[in-house]
Amino acid sequence: KVVAVIMVGGPTKGTRFRPLSFNTPKPLFPLAGQAMVHHPISACKRIPNLAQIFLIGFYEEREFALYVSSISNELKVPVRYLKEDKPHGSAGGLYYFRNMIMEDCPSHIFLLNCDVCCNFPLPDMLEAHRTYGGMGTMLVIKVSAESASQFGELVADPITKELLHYTEKPETFVSDLINCGVYVFTPDIFTAIEGVSTHREDRANLRCVLSFESLQSVTRTFPMDFVRLDQDILSPLAGKKQLYTYETMDFWEQIKTPGMSLKCSALYLAQFRSASPHLLASGDGTKSATVVGDVYVHPSAKVHPTAKIGPNVSISANVRVGAGVRLISCIILDDVEIKENAVIINSIVGWKSSIGKWSRVQADGDYNAKLGITILGEAVIVEDEAAVINCIVLPNKTLNISVQEEIIL
Ligand code: GDD
Repeated sequence: KVVAVIMVGGPTKGTRFRPLSFNTPKPLFPLAGQAMVHHPISACKRIPNLAQIFLIGFYEEREFALYVSSISNELKVPVRYLKEDKPHGSAGGLYYFRNMIMEDCPSHIFLLNCDVCCNFPLPDMLEAHRTYGGMGTMLVIKVSAESASQFGELVADPITKELLHYTEKPETFVSDLINCGVYVFTPDIFTAIEGVSTHREDRANLRCVLSFESLQSVTRTFPMDFVRLDQDILSPLAGKKQLYTYETMDFWEQIKTPGMSLKCSALYLAQFRSASPHLLASGDGTKSATVVGDVYVHPSAKVHPTAKIGPNVSISANVRVGAGVRLISCIILDDVEIKENAVIINSIVGWKSSIGKWSRVQADGDYNAKLGITILGEAVIVEDEAAVINCIVLPNKTLNISVQEEIIL
């Protein structure tokens, strides 16, 4: 048997995702009309002999209750949310729930970061891992040398694929091969994590003999049960014939900012085009709007037949799109109303917002720039004919004049 664990983090981790993380946990934010965490979960479904999927985080249980029960029914695989009482780090969280994870005596455990966007080639990784042997195999990808420093950089043996060297977010360039945050491990991973805490405890005890203050300083920087997968496990185990790499040639992105969620929404919509085309709007028939490229429209949304939408548009539940509206590259969240002839480009429109007639909500579409996409928080009102360009607008604001390059608090 095999189990999968998805690390979803908690409310203190999603600060760069504001103002969109104010009223929805980041893992449930919709990309291509499906919760962010839905994409790795549905990829897990392709793993042979999958027994269970666990989501581990420190969000409140009630925030995930509805989602996990509906996804369990849909996929016919038990999906459980396990809440940590406090952050234990990416490896500490896994270790904290080791008894539950080992319930089905799995031979392998997949571990996935929730905030990455890729095609999750999990069965291929498992097959590769079986031929390499060792304790674990991680998904890796080549990125540009300029962007590599935001990730774990690594060196792998070109023939055996063994992980030879690993440095987390180094200040000086090591390699353009980086860690994708997707792993498969044998249960030996628990012994490795335990080793880190024991080692720390020994060091602390040693210092305790020397002075009480130094014990305090050790536990302050590293509480005994806080273990990071990258620095504490991958770095020390590199070059010890324990860890191997599997390189993907397909797409991969990290989703830390709202701008990246718009980019990743496009990547997942494009994936639907080949994997599940029934999820995309077709635009066929005289009563439906004109659809350009990949578009998702929730069945409860009402789009006027004279509207033109796409490419890369996701429309959530109960949205109303009026006559003559033009939507390009945007995510429209639940219960938004878009009135006649409004134009929305490179933007995310928050829940229950209202976009006035002949108004424009748009941005340049530079996903990495701070104001590269326009974001409207929950219940923002853009009045008729106003233009909101390259702005971030916090919840409950009313805009009756045009604004540009501003953060509206
Ligand atoms: N449950 C739980 N508890 N989850 C956590 C905790 C914790 O205490 N800390 C982090 N996570 C989750 C995050 O939500 C995320 O999904 C994943 O673990 C990794 O988060 P970080 O440890 O903050 O690392 P990162 O995202 O900056 O970088 C990691 O991922 C990159 C790929 O996206 C590193 O492993 C990099 O090397 C890697 O390139």
